[in-house]
Amino acid sequence: MSSIKLFSLMFFLCSSPCFSAPKSSDPNSLYKSFLKCLPTSSPKPDTSFPSIVYSSAANSSAYTKVLQDRIKNLRYKTTATSKPAIIVTPKKETHVQAAVICAKKLNIHIRIRSGGHDYEGVSYALSEKTQFMILDMFNLRSVNVNVAVETVVAEAGAQLGDLYYRIWEKSKVHGFPAGVCVTLGVGGHISGAGYGTMIRKYGVSVDHVIDAKIVDVKGRLLDRKGMGEDLFWALRGGGGSNFGVIVSFTMKLVKVPKVITVFKVTKTVEEKAVDLVFKWQSVMSTVDKDLFIRALLNPAPESKKKTAKATFIALFLGDSTKLMSLMSKSFPELGLKKADCFEISWIQSILYWFNIDYKKTKLEVLLERNNGANFLKRKSDYVQTPITKQGLTAIFNKVGELGKIGLALNPYGGRMNEIPANATAFPHRAGNLFKIQYSLTWNENDPKVTEKYMNQTRVMYEFMTKYVAKNPRISFLNYKDFDIGVNKGDGYNSGKVFGQKYYKNNFDRLVKVKTAVDPENFFRNEQSIPIPPGKKKHTGVSMVEDSIYQ
Ligand SMILES: Cc1cc2nc3c(=O)[nH]c(=O)nc-3n(C[C@H](O)[C@H](O)[C@H](O)COP(=O)(O)OP(=O)(O)OC[C@H]3O[C@@H](n4cnc5c(N)ncnc54)[C@H](O)[C@@H]3O)c2cc1C
Ligand SMILES: *[C@@H]1O[C@H](CO)[C@@H](O)[C@H](O)[C@H]1NC(C)=O
Ligand SMILES: *[C@@H]1O[C@H](CO)[C@@H](O)[C@H](O)[C@H]1NC(C)=O
Ligand SMILES: *[C@@H]1O[C@H](CO)[C@@H](O)[C@H](O)[C@H]1NC(C)=O
Repeated sequence: MSSIKLFSLMFFLCSSPCFSAPKSSDPNSLYKSFLKCLPTSSPKPDTSFPSIVYSSAANSSAYTKVLQDRIKNLRYKTTATSKPAIIVTPKKETHVQAAVICAKKLNIHIRIRSGGHDYEGVSYALSEKTQFMILDMFNLRSVNVNVAVETVVAEAGAQLGDLYYRIWEKSKVHGFPAGVCVTLGVGGHISGAGYGTMIRKYGVSVDHVIDAKIVDVKGRLLDRKGMGEDLFWALRGGGGSNFGVIVSFTMKLVKVPKVITVFKVTKTVEEKAVDLVFKWQSVMSTVDKDLFIRALLNPAPESKKKTAKATFIALFLGDSTKLMSLMSKSFPELGLKKADCFEISWIQSILYWFNIDYKKTKLEVLLERNNGANFLKRKSDYVQTPITKQGLTAIFNKVGELGKIGLALNPYGGRMNEIPANATAFPHRAGNLFKIQYSLTWNENDPKVTEKYMNQTRVMYEFMTKYVAKNPRISFLNYKDFDIGVNKGDGYNSGKVFGQKYYKNNFDRLVKVKTAVDPENFFRNEQSIPIPPGKKKHTGVSMVEDSIYQ
């Protein structure tokens, strides 16, 4: 009790820069005070806390392993990358509660990690030198499927592979609409909306979330009823790390047929790839919801002139006979042959889309944690009016000229046109033809190469301006991109810049929810939802007022 009083007193008294976390030459100092704090802040008597806290000084190799296992973007794994003072790895809900209460008491900046796939490393790296901790949710990974009521409860640290596998274990006619990459964490992926191959049939993941558990800034564990409809609305697409720590999501399963058909065909410009992508835009906005075709544009170095090629990858919720008849009616130009089609189960289609040989690989691969990582940069756009053939030709040529960047064109239509933009915090619904993901992945550990490829994504993005949605130009939160703006010292005005791109008209309501549930802006990061001026204790990312952004 006295220590709580002391810390709040310190907070009041000191002007910025202000750190209430104990300062000492002993690198173990925060580790020690945190361990001391945890049992006193736990809702239940608990002696297990020493087994969930890692510090670089006390647990050097274990700390490094826990830190690095879920760093998925090597751009945020350099010697310059800031490292957490401690990593807390809760094994039960009360651990999360105690950790949040102690982070607050000791005034230590917190980052929350589930799967670690954030494209800007927000869950584990800081863009400034401030002492911080990671709350790593990977031990909270249970998935409970209840076929009778068609629901699944998945903890934040479960990966999508766990979710898909556990559903498959219990039912061959149920699935869940979420992302393609099976190592994505439930905590980050689903709070950011969750986009996948069943989007035209079932929308995004948040359209099926029916309950959630969150630990708020006061350390309370709240379900939907406890948190209220405003926060529950915000958690569905507003991004997790703005409001508290998501412990689990409860979701409704969706029906999938026993036989699913997939195909992948690549066309060069000589094979009329430009005309095909042109046609694809209009086909996808109206065709049967059971069909999803992604179009990938990649450089075609084998071609005589500098251009791109197009790969069409499909998921059809039905058999190949039905698919062939649909294609011959709606998209005969693609020239799809029955031999291009593979009839497989829904769970095999997960492997297929993840580029795993579904014939040779055991399904248990979905349960594996893999710590593979690359250097990544992603950006996004939405296209709302069809791009002309001339425009597409220019885009193909630009991709060929730049030589490395790829564009993934992800169709909308179907169910996405039926859900109002304010039904959940995720706003990108009717009116979109497709979403573009700009994608650049590399392996060279060389700052010059990084600079070159980062520039390439920006050059491509600039080039695309006239073809994509504008006023504002919009972006997909799950494809996090610091180029579109970050929180600066003033918090609100800079936050509005990227906030309107990610959330469109839902931004203002998100600011209200944020202000109500986290009035001191304790849960904040480079792109967290800001709080109106005058209301907050903390601005920008920093514990201090003079953040590097100013
Ligand atoms: C290889 C790859 C493929 C991808 N494919 C897709 C795809 O098909 N569809 C799609 O929609 N997206 C895709 N993404 C993007 C992905 O959905 C987002 O990066 C998502 O945020 C990842 O969630 P995570 O838990 O793995 O990441 P993390 O890095 O752990 O978290 C991401 C964000 O969520 C916050 N967060 C994480 N857990 C919690 C929690 N428990 N409570 C509160 N906040 C939390 C973090 O602080 C961070 O801000 C892909 C990303 C990668 C790297
Ligand atoms: C970290 O090291 C300390 C001191 O050796 C030990 O007591 C603690 O159990 C270790 N923590 C973990 C999570 O292994
Ligand atoms: C969405 O907006 C409409 C029209 O303004 C309103 O009637 C409806 O209540 C809103 N829905 C939600 C979930 O806020
Ligand atoms: C980025 O690349 C373009 C050419 O593609 C070049 O003109 C420009 O100078 C580069 N910018 C930077 C900052 O390197």
